[in-house]
Amino acid sequence: MSAVPAARPVTVPSFRAAKGAAKLAVVTAYDYTSARLCDEAGVDAVLVGDSLGMVVQGHPTSLPVTLDEVLYHTRCVVRGVRRALVVADLPFLTYQVSPRQAVRNAGRLLKEGGAHAVKLEGGVRMRAAVKACVDAGIPVMGHVGLTPQAVHQLGGFKVQRDAEQLLADAAAVEEAGVFAAVVESVPAELGAKVTAAVGVPTIGIGAGPGCDGQVLVFHDMLGLFPDFRPKFAKRYADLGGAVTAAVAAYCAEVRDGTFPAAEHTFR
Ligand code: KIV
Repeated sequence: MSAVPAARPVTVPSFRAAKGAAKLAVVTAYDYTSARLCDEAGVDAVLVGDSLGMVVQGHPTSLPVTLDEVLYHTRCVVRGVRRALVVADLPFLTYQVSPRQAVRNAGRLLKEGGAHAVKLEGGVRMRAAVKACVDAGIPVMGHVGLTPQAVHQLGGFKVQRDAEQLLADAAAVEEAGVFAAVVESVPAELGAKVTAAVGVPTIGIGAGPGCDGQVLVFHDMLGLFPDFRPKFAKRYADLGGAVTAAVAAYCAEVRDGTFPAAEHTFR
């Protein structure tokens, strides 16, 4: 096991400067407790992802998530983080309408949510939105490859194999000023190719080991989400099984009268 990094806070410039020097570990979190645990474990960034629509709210996609919901979860996460960078996702239709809309809503995630940066999906088509946010002083993480908010347009959560499109998208958001970019669900060779092509860190999810860092969804990596298990989501624990077993033991003890015992009872 490698050592947990020193406690110096991660900043947007230090995150960006890690390219080529150190691999970046990013995890999603949606509440105070999980954010605190991830921060104490030494993650470089916590992403308040709109994946909360699936793993917290139980929707089949992230499309129904609102800006107010991301704001709420961002405030919870920020209270649990000491060192990591906090990046908040802009949900579907909170930035695609116009660059002006993007700035307003991204600004709210920083001003009202306390995030350090925002993430938005899309490449060439989102160049103006990214640039407008960056010009307004809002750090932006890009997201190319599989963009889950376009799930219906893409025909499902499918591996993206169009190298030309991926490279054009990554170049467009880099030029517009992103400090890093998530690269989702592309073949490993493409993940490595896009990483070599851009000057900002690529954070892969299902994009192979050639990226500058990796991101996983908290519930996937801990075995807490039973509905869907993507190939790339390595399980580091089976907390789902542990929770069910613990709650079942509690139910049994309540029913047979062994809980509460003397040590859990006031005299
Ligand atoms: O919403 C999210 O959690 C994400 C990550 C999967 C990158 O965008």
